[in-house]
Amino acid sequence: MEGALTARDRVGVQDFLLLENYTSEAAFIENLRRRFRENLIYTYIGSVLVSVNPYKELEIYSRQHMERYRGVNFYEISPHIFALADNSYRALRTERRDQCILISGESGAGKTEASKKILLYYASTCPARHNSAPVRDRLLQSNPVLEAFGNAKTLRNDNSSRFGKYMDVQFDFKGCPIGGHILNYLLEKSRVVHQNHGERNFHVFYQLLEGGDESLLKRLGLERNPQQYHYLVKGSCPRVSSISDKSDWKTVNKALTIIGFNEAEVEKLLDIVASVLHLGNTQFGEDEDGETHITTETQLRYLCKLLGVNGSELSRALTHRKIIAKGEEMISPLNLEQAMSSRDALAKAVYARTFTWLVAKVNQSLAFKDDMYYSGKSSSVIGLLDIYGFEVFQINSFEQFCINYCNEKLQQLLVELTLKSEQEEYEAEGIAWEPVNYFDNKIICDLVEEKFKGIIAILDEECLRPGDASDITFLEKMEDTLGSHAHFVTHKLANGKARKAVGREEFRLLHYAGEVNYNVNGFLDKNNDLLYRNLKEVMCQSENPIMSQCFHREEVIDQKRPETAATQFKVSLAQLMEILMSKEPSYMRCIKPNDGKQPGRFDEMLVRHQVKYLGLMESLRVRRAGFAYRRHYQAFLQRYKSLCPDTWPNWEGNLAEGVATLVKHLSYKPEEYKLGKSKIFIRFPKTLFITEDALEARKPSLATILQTSWRGYRERSNYHRTRHAVIVIQSWWRGVKDRRKAKRRREAADTIRSFIKGFILRNEPRCGDNDFFLDHVRFSFLMTLKRNLPKNVLDRSWPRPPTALTEASDHLHTLWLRNMVRAYCRRVQPEWKHQMDQKVIASEIFRNQKDCYPQSVPKLFVGTRLEAEEINLKVMQTLGNDRMKYGVPVIKYDRHGFRPRPRQLLLTGSAAVLVQEAKIKQRVDYGALLNISVSSLSDGFFVLHVPTNNTKQKGDLVLQCDHVIETVTKLAIVADKIHNVNVIEDSIKFAVARGKEGVIDFCSGAELRVVKARGHLAVTAPRLNPASR
Ligand SMILES: Nc1ncnc2c1ncn2[C@@H]1O[C@H](COP(=O)(O)OP(=O)(O)OP(=O)(O)O)[C@@H](O)[C@H]1O
Ligand SMILES: [Mg+2]
Repeated sequence: MEGALTARDRVGVQDFLLLENYTSEAAFIENLRRRFRENLIYTYIGSVLVSVNPYKELEIYSRQHMERYRGVNFYEISPHIFALADNSYRALRTERRDQCILISGESGAGKTEASKKILLYYASTCPARHNSAPVRDRLLQSNPVLEAFGNAKTLRNDNSSRFGKYMDVQFDFKGCPIGGHILNYLLEKSRVVHQNHGERNFHVFYQLLEGGDESLLKRLGLERNPQQYHYLVKGSCPRVSSISDKSDWKTVNKALTIIGFNEAEVEKLLDIVASVLHLGNTQFGEDEDGETHITTETQLRYLCKLLGVNGSELSRALTHRKIIAKGEEMISPLNLEQAMSSRDALAKAVYARTFTWLVAKVNQSLAFKDDMYYSGKSSSVIGLLDIYGFEVFQINSFEQFCINYCNEKLQQLLVELTLKSEQEEYEAEGIAWEPVNYFDNKIICDLVEEKFKGIIAILDEECLRPGDASDITFLEKMEDTLGSHAHFVTHKLANGKARKAVGREEFRLLHYAGEVNYNVNGFLDKNNDLLYRNLKEVMCQSENPIMSQCFHREEVIDQKRPETAATQFKVSLAQLMEILMSKEPSYMRCIKPNDGKQPGRFDEMLVRHQVKYLGLMESLRVRRAGFAYRRHYQAFLQRYKSLCPDTWPNWEGNLAEGVATLVKHLSYKPEEYKLGKSKIFIRFPKTLFITEDALEARKPSLATILQTSWRGYRERSNYHRTRHAVIVIQSWWRGVKDRRKAKRRREAADTIRSFIKGFILRNEPRCGDNDFFLDHVRFSFLMTLKRNLPKNVLDRSWPRPPTALTEASDHLHTLWLRNMVRAYCRRVQPEWKHQMDQKVIASEIFRNQKDCYPQSVPKLFVGTRLEAEEINLKVMQTLGNDRMKYGVPVIKYDRHGFRPRPRQLLLTGSAAVLVQEAKIKQRVDYGALLNISVSSLSDGFFVLHVPTNNTKQKGDLVLQCDHVIETVTKLAIVADKIHNVNVIEDSIKFAVARGKEGVIDFCSGAELRVVKARGHLAVTAPRLNPASR
């Protein structure tokens, strides 16, 4: 605001609302002029931007300028188109409402330039979406392409839009441009075949001829000279100083590539452009029969090649007309004039349809591909309306009628939105209001479009009417119907001075922007927009893919008459108005400073005229008296409620009271605002900006609250989700676990049941009911067996087998024993074997016979108990070769008197020898040994019986030895008397001498005692093993 005030001091005022004398038109224009002189081309009327075309490049559209306007409040900085663009963009982002920017003004006022600047601003300053560069480029590059095909030099503007364009720029929720869509309105196609003096055809023709390289022109059969082409010479103006066709050609080619045209498509497109030029040069002649034919064969050849159609069919279609009357087809030849007009009709149709195809193609390229994203309504649009401006020429035809009607409609929309509805709103809201008078151009719109009696309705009626309808009858019909209308004048209706100004074939409309005389010639034809059926048929068969997309077969088959051009245009304008009304509008009014396209010239008359018809003074008055900003209570409260503790977070009561509380808290002064029935009206933008700033300052704390709540919500949701997942997993896992458990139990019960059943039937033959049990019993027996197998040969244990396995068990037992024995035997050393042999013999002799035998078993037999050193050498010498095998100290009892005497018993290979020191006291040859007697008790007595008749022998030997078992066993082995050992229980009798006997009595007692008693030797020996014997 500060900046604006300073600027006001410098050059006029930046906002007409600040104009002292705001009701004065002169002051208004003076302000415009002063600013224009200083190259300040933009001025506001409130939020409406007024622009004056500078007709020169100004350094105000640079990147720095864009940055300066980015995100800055409308009124805080000098007026600029970027401010308008940014304001709409911010409104789109903050309020999420679709926006549109309505640019109006007459031809050459700068609408197209303004729309391009706005697009450039969005492309340069909006945040970039990942991968969004191509979209931005395509949005920008759509302009040069559409301008090449749809713009032309007119007397009013060197780059005049000859079609209406409404472009939606689509933004995602982050504000990144993501796509776009263009709606095009009625191309002035008559320009293809005719241009007024000083005007040109569409730019693309000149660009192709100037810029296209030789090979391209050669292929297209063109020459680099516009003068050669009938369609380009009508205006006698092939070159314009302000236009460089050559460099524009490069720009367009590059743009086509960026938009996504491939080489083949560009080629086909240029084929069509060239074919239009060839059509223009196609000439006709008459033969002797008066038949029309084509005289320019070369053109025809190129036409066939470029349009991909059959030559003879095309030439026939150009010179004949096919009519279907009562279902019958009739071909009638055309005269020279008719043939030329059918050729022109074809050229116009081909060009206009190609243009429509081009727009569709551009739309494909701009379309936002991510449907999912789009369907989520997360995107919003800003619409840019750039139509052809109001224009008046020397001769105005159907096209100017449509263009000016279009401007009339747009003006009506602006009147509706800015003047009418605004004032009506104050009234409806009960705000005290002094009405401002303004011109409502609805009357002119109705004059053109009203049902049954509007100009379009009359024109259509004349077109459809059978009989001799002509442009003149159309004029007459209008005179009849609209004669009394204040805005309609014809030569016949006018009087005096006015009559002179209107030709006989003209009608004059008093448009909001001025009077325009329209020449009725061609109105019916142009409205009918006729292209003969046979020409359509030929084009349907075109091999040029663009043409085949432009001409549809259904069109030929469909007998229904298509809508007239004016009606189509009327309908499409009505739709456009609906689109615009559905969006939040911003306005830009463009003013043309002079008619000469000259920089620095400010034609006051011309400007005054525009200020008047644009209704700028009225706008100013309404704005000045009115309020800059209004909002429904609910929306206002919703936006600013956080600024007042009473309304935050929610106002429960009456909305108006809520707003009143809020503004009171914000300290609004009474003159700053008014409360209506449903809206609050704020008079000055400043008040709103202060409120906005307060909201901005409040936002961080709101954001913190939102963040906290959101984080809480997110964490809670996460927790709930996790918990739910845990419960699900738990329940599933428990289910699985319990099912497994149940299964195991069931199986266990089955096992137990079959086990019990098997047990009951265990003795039955094997059957289904007991086989499990029997198998189990076997298995468990075998497993038990495996664990309890006897470890050694002496271990006699063996698990008790079940009945069924008794036999197998026995076999196994035997096998195992054998196995053990085998293993044992393998392990036995020779000494041990010798020991065993002796032990076996001892066992044979003593087992279960002698009481001390079991105690002897674990004691190993030794080789000898007397070593060679212990035996007298003499004895050894006496023995000589009969070497001692075993020696043991013994007690020898005398046969008489039983005196015990210590002796050595030596066993040699042939005899047992009793030795006392060096003396051999007795020698018993083994051959002479009869028996050996031992007692059954645990004593060491043994008696060697020898034959009594043997004189060499002294008698039986009574001996006692500590190792009786060992000694007797060795003796029995060496003497081979194993079976001659007697184990006697009570008494051993022995031969003392021939015929005389001695007795040794044995009885068991506590300890060993040897005594002589009654001539016997009484031996008391303990019984160690009571069970033996
Ligand atoms: N802001 C500007 N800066 C410099 N030159 C401008 C500006 N606006 C317009 N012009 C000049 O004025 C000429 C006409 O402008 P533009 O084509 O935008 O008019 P228009 O309103 O679109 O006219 P029409 O209704 O005929 O299409 C441009 O070619 C350009 O030379
Ligand atoms: Mg334009």
